[in-house]
Amino acid sequence: MAELNRRRILVSGGTLGAIGALGMAAPAHARSLVEWTWAPSGSIAGAGAGADPHWVWDEEADRLVASLLDRGDVPEVNRLLWNWTRNDQPLPSGLPQDLHAFMEKARRLPPWADRAKLEIAAEFNKSRGLYLNLLNGVGGGILATAIPNEARSVYYSKGGADMEDRVAKTSIFGFSVGALNAYRPGGSCVVESVKTRLVHAAVRHLLQQSPHWTGDIPISQEDMLVTWHTLPTFAMRKLREWKVPITKAESDAYLHVWQVTAYLLGIKEEYIPASWDAAYEQSDQVLPRNMGPTREGVELTDILLGQLAEQTSPGSISRPLCNALARYLVGDKVADWDGIPREPVWDPLIATAWPALVRFREGLVPLPLVPEIAWTLDEAVRQYILFYLTKGEETKIEIPTTNRPE
Ligand code: HEM
Repeated sequence: MAELNRRRILVSGGTLGAIGALGMAAPAHARSLVEWTWAPSGSIAGAGAGADPHWVWDEEADRLVASLLDRGDVPEVNRLLWNWTRNDQPLPSGLPQDLHAFMEKARRLPPWADRAKLEIAAEFNKSRGLYLNLLNGVGGGILATAIPNEARSVYYSKGGADMEDRVAKTSIFGFSVGALNAYRPGGSCVVESVKTRLVHAAVRHLLQQSPHWTGDIPISQEDMLVTWHTLPTFAMRKLREWKVPITKAESDAYLHVWQVTAYLLGIKEEYIPASWDAAYEQSDQVLPRNMGPTREGVELTDILLGQLAEQTSPGSISRPLCNALARYLVGDKVADWDGIPREPVWDPLIATAWPALVRFREGLVPLPLVPEIAWTLDEAVRQYILFYLTKGEETKIEIPTTNRPE
């Protein structure tokens, strides 16, 4: 059977189970099911078939958005959704009926969403905003470029040609999750997550038409999990490493806000980790098999760090400082994959100044123990956050209708 047909069956059937049901052998290059050992008992659903998420996508959204693209409805949908910005806002009238029905369902919080936990998470995001924005923004961004599937799909999709706009769009999402009102009526996390779910569905349809795209259907559930772990799981591990004091209620709540967000992004409940232990275990299973160097990733990293260095207030973050900060956050292996140059002056300085700064900020050491250079770093991080905050004001998340222009 032609590979394309097989893919279509996978999409319509949802999982590798469909292949079994049709009595076919798994594709030669398929990851064998035995490789996927993460137990669905560790998930929010608490049970599941245990299917390898490499072969699962988002069948309902994918079918719908493919149809919207084929019908030529997307530009009008984008126009109508431009002013849909608040969690409590009714959907605009005039949307295609099937999309309207899907979005009404997709915007609903899962029954297990816990308002009290979401409130604690919002406070935590505020009190730890500096670290979290740094980890999710710079850290998550640089890790993403070392994920070949993601780097290549970003590079060859529409936004790959205009990384500035893409970064701005991603920051809209990032700040909506971190906002104090993220899941309150006046917040926007539901809106941005549902819009992103639609964008991903469009990318799945469009990228397969790109002459540059050679892999399986992009953005599988496994891919989603990989990226998800570069956000909350990576951040929590780093906060622990930096010895930032975190209460159990805070860490539970921080996991919870990302569980709800995963759900709204279209990650199935049988893959969403129910606890940090389950998350770490899943992360250790999916990250190593999905990370590595690519030409596209190196180029995207260079663009990202260049933007960061050039566009914050002049002189506040030099390119060598950006390089060193990124290397410090993601570690040598990923930094080398991403082609981030070593910085003989900044690399060792950051490795000592940052932990000292964190300890001071947390009231764990007195000021004299903080090296002067730490304040340059502190200011750089603030500038960085401001830069992304203001970037996001200029644009909105929209469903693409094309791939990267040739
Ligand atoms: C678009 C977030 C996973 C590839 C977006 C956007 C956001 C986002 C906010 C909209 C911004 C834009 O349109 O540029 C996330 C989050 C993820 C995730 C939070 C997981 C937790 C992934 C994965 C891939 C991917 C796993 C690929 C393997 C893309 C691409 C676009 C996109 C190609 C569209 C860019 C374009 O318009 O050309 N994502 N994403 N994303 N994402 Fe994701």
